[in-house]
Amino acid sequence: MNFLDREFFNFHSNKSIEERAAIFNRHGRIFDMIFSQQFNRPTLERLFEITNALRHISKSKEGCDFLKGLLSHKKAMLYFAQPSSRTFLSFQNACHILGMATSEIRDTSVSSEVKGESFDDGLRTFSSYADLIIMRHKQANSAERAAWLLNSYSKRPVPILNGGAGSDQHPTQALLDIYTLHKSFEKSGGIDGKTVLFCGDLKRGRTVRSLAYLLKNFENIKMIFAAPKFFQMNEDVLQFLENHNMPYTIETESLKNVLGQADAIYMTRIQDEHDTATGESACVDIEQFKLKIADMNFVKPNAAIMHPFPRRDEIDVEIDSDPRAKYWRQERNGMWTRAALIAYVFEVENKILNHTTT
Ligand code: NCD
Repeated sequence: MNFLDREFFNFHSNKSIEERAAIFNRHGRIFDMIFSQQFNRPTLERLFEITNALRHISKSKEGCDFLKGLLSHKKAMLYFAQPSSRTFLSFQNACHILGMATSEIRDTSVSSEVKGESFDDGLRTFSSYADLIIMRHKQANSAERAAWLLNSYSKRPVPILNGGAGSDQHPTQALLDIYTLHKSFEKSGGIDGKTVLFCGDLKRGRTVRSLAYLLKNFENIKMIFAAPKFFQMNEDVLQFLENHNMPYTIETESLKNVLGQADAIYMTRIQDEHDTATGESACVDIEQFKLKIADMNFVKPNAAIMHPFPRRDEIDVEIDSDPRAKYWRQERNGMWTRAALIAYVFEVENKILNHTTT
């Protein structure tokens, strides 16, 4: 352990997540986006409004030109040390919508990490060139470490946005998921009071973990976790739900047993990149935890079917044309909600909300 490892260890292990989250906020606003516990209901509602306004303004050329002027003086760095299609492309396009120039490292085999450069030195280097760092990394607390490092030891504490940290959190995915739920239930009483069913690899799926935490901001939510025992939700999330009096049930036999209760069905793939050399995922039978076209009769007529993607065969492709399938829209919502978050972090959201298209 070097000096920074020790300091980070002390910071990380002696403080609750709320205390740690506090250093990533400035003046009551999110600065670094590290955990989904940083979001509160007013901030989420504000982000929904910004997202709606961005979508509306971008319908005209005049609107797109206006948006491009908002952050044309800022540069973003996308540091993606794990595979990504949607998160990378939606963030990159979100930056471009707001006029930001972007640079990227997508493969650590072409960065100085190969020459033995430390994570910390790499991050400080990126912050020399960019005004914002968006990152994905296989380590669970990578984004937190980066934000802690820049806030504590760098003269250029640029905001860090977590685009996926190991099997722990993926808060901007939770943001686009919650926006998708908000739009899906706009005409049926909103997200409050809904039952959200999570299915698949709940143990190692960072998207389900972040979304479960985020749902704390809504009233009377029920959650159902459907997965074989091996892939069930971890104790830390379940403990969080219990501490916040958020009811949940666990289903380990079959998705079909609980399908009819759900207002939202959030499917995920098996995250076998986290397997050990024994390839333990392949030994678990997940056949009963796939959404089949024949099961659609059991699904509520106004349910929202979601998936963070990529999918394998958890959802039959025949379901894609069912109006309850929201995953393609969800994917596109990612670009708009991420643009909204960036606009919020750079405090240009009032310009967006006050803009009237001609
Ligand atoms: C997810 C991820 O990377 O955690 N993908 C995404 O960002 N949309 C889910 C996954 O890889 O299964």
